[in-house]
Amino acid sequence: MKRFVWIGLAALLLIIAAIFGPDAWGLYKLQHHVTAAERAYRADGGAWPHLSDTCTGCHGPQGHSRNQAYPSLAGQPAAYVTAQLQAFAAGTRANPTMGSLARSLSAADVRQLADYFAGQRPAANDTFTPDPGQRDRGGQLVVANGCAACHGETLMGQGAFPRLAGQGRDYLAAQLDAFASGARTEPTGTMYRLAAGLAPADRAAVASYLAGLAPASK
Ligand code: HEC
Ligand code: HEC
Repeated sequence: MKRFVWIGLAALLLIIAAIFGPDAWGLYKLQHHVTAAERAYRADGGAWPHLSDTCTGCHGPQGHSRNQAYPSLAGQPAAYVTAQLQAFAAGTRANPTMGSLARSLSAADVRQLADYFAGQRPAANDTFTPDPGQRDRGGQLVVANGCAACHGETLMGQGAFPRLAGQGRDYLAAQLDAFASGARTEPTGTMYRLAAGLAPADRAAVASYLAGLAPASK
């Protein structure tokens, strides 16, 4: 009789483990994951909240955009990010979202954000695959027009000149069109001359080539 009680109990325990075991294991794993994520978040810039959290929704985690229409900020030179935030705030670069956001930042915030994004290692734009024909055409135009003279030998940007390698495809195309139409301006006037000198299809090819370039390590 006693043996049956033990067997019954063991069977009951097995049933309980089968029903609740996966949940308990899942809960343990979730807690482990939360702790690891918490640690990584702190290592990325101190206690919650980070100033850069506001930017993540559009510019991606650590400035690695997951959307071709939003620019990646990772590895963008600090001087360039600063100049753009100032231009958005002043309205000399027109964008409704970035304008009001930039006006809400103090000079110290701008410095902190520019240093933070400049310090992130740029990642390959792996959500975009260029059409081979467009890529080759774009590559020829980039060489022929001497883009590397300002944007750096590997097109990774320097000082006031932005990184182009691995930037979002649709973002690049939109900027080249904006320079060509005069909707976006810059002090040297070079970008207007170059972009307006390219046919729309060529601007699209240049954007595809640049977006598909793997960022070089600086
Ligand atoms: C709601 C979406 C959104 C949020 C949030 C946002 N941005 Fe932007 N940002 C944009 C868009 C869209 C553009 C491109 C504007 C254009 O087309 O000229 C942009 C452009 C920029 C640029 C220019 C990039 C370049 O390559 O020229 C910088 C710098 C920038 N944002 C910084 C920030 C920072 C810093 C934050 C957080 C404090 C932030 N953004 C938050 C949408 C956003
Ligand atoms: C004489 C220097 C110079 C040359 C050459 C040059 N650029 Fe630029 N480019 C600039 C400057 C300066 C800016 C930043 C403008 C600003 O501050 O808004 C810029 C910005 C850009 C942007 C906007 C990037 C962003 O993140 O918003 C793109 C795209 C671009 N250039 C593409 C090109 C291409 C393609 C070529 C070659 C066909 C080229 N540039 C050649 C000076 C140059």
